[in-house]
Amino acid sequence: MDKPIDLRSDTVTRPTPEMRNAMATAEVGDDVFGDDPTINALQEYAADLLGKQAGLFVPTGSMGNQVSLGALARPGDEIVCEANAHFLHYEGGSMAGNLGLMMRPLPGDAGVINADQVASTIRRGSEHNPRTAVVAMENTHNAAGGRIFPIEEARAVAKVARDRGVALHMDGARIFNAQAATGTPAAEWAACADTVTFCFSKGLGAPVGSMVVGPSDVLAESHRLRKRLGGGMRQAGVLAAAARVALETGPARLHEDHAHARRLAEALAELNPDAVELDVIETNMIYVDVGVFGTTGAQVSDALGREGILTLGSEAPIMRLVTHSDVSSEDIETAILGLRKALN
Ligand SMILES: Cc1ncc(COP(=O)(O)O)c(C=O)c1O
Repeated sequence: MDKPIDLRSDTVTRPTPEMRNAMATAEVGDDVFGDDPTINALQEYAADLLGKQAGLFVPTGSMGNQVSLGALARPGDEIVCEANAHFLHYEGGSMAGNLGLMMRPLPGDAGVINADQVASTIRRGSEHNPRTAVVAMENTHNAAGGRIFPIEEARAVAKVARDRGVALHMDGARIFNAQAATGTPAAEWAACADTVTFCFSKGLGAPVGSMVVGPSDVLAESHRLRKRLGGGMRQAGVLAAAARVALETGPARLHEDHAHARRLAEALAELNPDAVELDVIETNMIYVDVGVFGTTGAQVSDALGREGILTLGSEAPIMRLVTHSDVSSEDIETAILGLRKALN
């Protein structure tokens, strides 16, 4: 069988020859001593790109979220977030377990919390209540299907929080997908938050790494937390070199992944219009209701697997499909044939 078509996640991409070459020739040093020139340059480049004072290279998006929220809040403080936030459900309980932070989830609309909700949720000034320390936004929102946090709403949320002296964090693991889909520069979303994390190892295609950007004083504390959490890496310039290629070349091609997701979704809608909501597909993710075909995610996933198409499927009727740089237009057409066969 040819190379499988992997629609499980945008984290599955392999480093390109350009990335491998950059890794092989990277200048490195001990980053715990701040001596790695490739990491230092990447941190500065990322901070400039997003309009922030400083950057901090971290191994994962999960660590990026922890060192951001941990730097902005104290144990016992509460973080206002959307009810399906990635760091609330999919990061192993790290915010409670490692940082002693309390989560205050709000029901979102397509992953978006609005300024009115935030205004009526923030609590400060009473010793009886936990102190609201941070309002967090996720852009694009994973569990909502790659939905974009509208820039106007992000600005309104930021204003409400700032007026009340509350810090803001943006989990921008896929912020460049939001940029590619809207044309709004990532820096404009970043301006709505104190700290922003984004991942090199998702749609941008690098093998490892995420970045936190924000004010220098906050990032100094993030730096300490990264060490505490065991994320102090040494000659990690080999990773930063691939991440640099990803950041320089990745954003410009993300629109291809979005077009592929749309093509896939339209083909599914042709099979059954109730299988997929076309209106909500904004970036590189699709949630498909395979229940309308009288089947489960696990059954469809098994059938697709036999055709060389990898997907994640459980006993639930909803399946997520994700496009990325290792899925070509031809692969999408092959995947559509596979889906037709599996769902008929
Ligand atoms: C929105 C979001 N934030 C954070 C993360 C965590 O990234 P990592 O897997 O690198 O820890 C993910 C991972 O998929 C994500 O989708």
